[in-house]
Amino acid sequence: MTGAVHKTLEVGLGDRSYPIHVGPGILGDATLIPADLAGRDVLIVTNATVAPLYLDRLAGALSGHRVESLVLPDGEQFKTLTSFTAIIDRLADLGYHRDAVVMALGGGVIGDLAGFAAACYQRGIAFVQLPTTLLAQVDAAVGGKTAVNHAAGKNLIGAFYQPRGVIADTDTLDTLPVREYRAGLAEVVKYGAGLDAAFFAWLEDHRDALSERRTPVLVEAVIRCCSIKAAIVAEDEREAGCRALLNLGHTFAHAIETGTGYGRWLHGEAVAAGMVMAADLSVRLGSLSEAEAARLRSLLESFGLPLSPPAMGGDAMLELMGMDKKVSGGRLHLVLFDGLGASLVRADVPITELKAVLAASDPA
Ligand code: NAD
Ligand code: GLY
Repeated sequence: MTGAVHKTLEVGLGDRSYPIHVGPGILGDATLIPADLAGRDVLIVTNATVAPLYLDRLAGALSGHRVESLVLPDGEQFKTLTSFTAIIDRLADLGYHRDAVVMALGGGVIGDLAGFAAACYQRGIAFVQLPTTLLAQVDAAVGGKTAVNHAAGKNLIGAFYQPRGVIADTDTLDTLPVREYRAGLAEVVKYGAGLDAAFFAWLEDHRDALSERRTPVLVEAVIRCCSIKAAIVAEDEREAGCRALLNLGHTFAHAIETGTGYGRWLHGEAVAAGMVMAADLSVRLGSLSEAEAARLRSLLESFGLPLSPPAMGGDAMLELMGMDKKVSGGRLHLVLFDGLGASLVRADVPITELKAVLAASDPA
C-alpha cells in the first residue's frame, strides 16, 4: 500500500530530538528526511538481501543529493570491526565531509553497524535509520544504541549515538521471512507484557491481524512500541535506570543464544522463551499470577514462538547468565514481572528459585 497516512512521534532528547515515522509506502518519501539534511551527500549502507528489494526505491527518492551505496554481506557474523572499517573506508574514499549523511537501510545488524560508523566518522556525522525488519522498526532503530560484535562478546564495541530520524515503512515487512517476522513479534509482546497492560490486551485482541501482517494493525503496533520505547529513552538514554526494563527476558535469551551458538535461535525466539522463564520465576516469587503467565504463553504461542528453552542444561544456562552484561556489582540483576504489563529489576532472586526455573532447560 502506498500513499496512506503515516503516523509520527518524537523521541524527546532536547536538541537531539528526532522523529519516528511509521506507515506503508514511506520509504520513497523524501519529505520525511529532516529538512536540514537536504542536498547533502548520502551513503546508503545496506546488505545483499535488502539491496535488490529496496535500494533503488530509496536512492530514487533522493534527488538533489549525491547518493552512493555500500552493500555489505548479510548476517550477524558480519557485524564486525571489518564491516565497520569498510563503511569508514568508503566514506573516506568518497571524500565525504562532516556534513555527509549515512542512511541505514536494513535490519538491526545494518542499523547498529552503520550507526556506529556514523558515530565515529569525523567524530560523528548525521545518520538516518530506515529499518526493514519488524525487530528493527520496534526496537533496534530507536534509541541510539549502536555497536559491532567482538570475539569476546556481542555488541562489545559501540556508542550511544542517536539518529536524526527513523523512517519505518511497514510495507517492507511484506518480504520478511516468517521466522524473522515472528521474532520481531516477540519484541512487540515484550512491550505489552513488561510495560503496558492496555497494549498487551490490544495485542491479544489483534493477534490474528498481526499474524497476517495487516497494514493498519501493523502500523498501530509499531507506533505503540516506538512510543513506549521513546518515552523510556527520553527518560534514561544511557540505561542508568528504567531503560533496563526493555531487557525483560533478555538475560535468559542471551544465555540461550550463546549456549546454542549464535544464529540457531533468532534473538526474538530466545526472548520469547526468556520471557516465559521470567514469568515462571515471577510466579514463584509472587509478583505474577499463574493466570497472567498463561495469557503470556497463549499470546506467544499464537505467534508461533517457542515457550521453553532448548535442552542445554540449567547449570550451563546459569553460568552463561552470570556472564551477561546485566551483572553489576557481582549480583545478577533480573528484569521480572510486576503483574502483567509492568516490570521491575530485582537483584535479590534466591538462587534456588532461579535454578528451579532453569531446570526447564535440563535434558529430559
Ligand atoms: P537482521 O538485521 O540480521 O535482519 C534479519 C534478516 O532479515 C537478515 O537476513 C536481513 O537481510 C533480512 N531482511 C531485512 N529486511 C528484510 C526485508 N524487508 N525483507 C526480507 N528480508 C529482510 O536482524 P534483526 O532481527 O533486524 O536485528 C538483529 C540485530 O539487531 C542484532 O545484531 C541485535 O544485536 C541488534 N539489536 C539492536 C538493538 C539496539 O537497540 N540497537 C536492539 C535490538 C537488537
Ligand atoms: N534494545 C534495548 C535498548 O534499546 O535499550
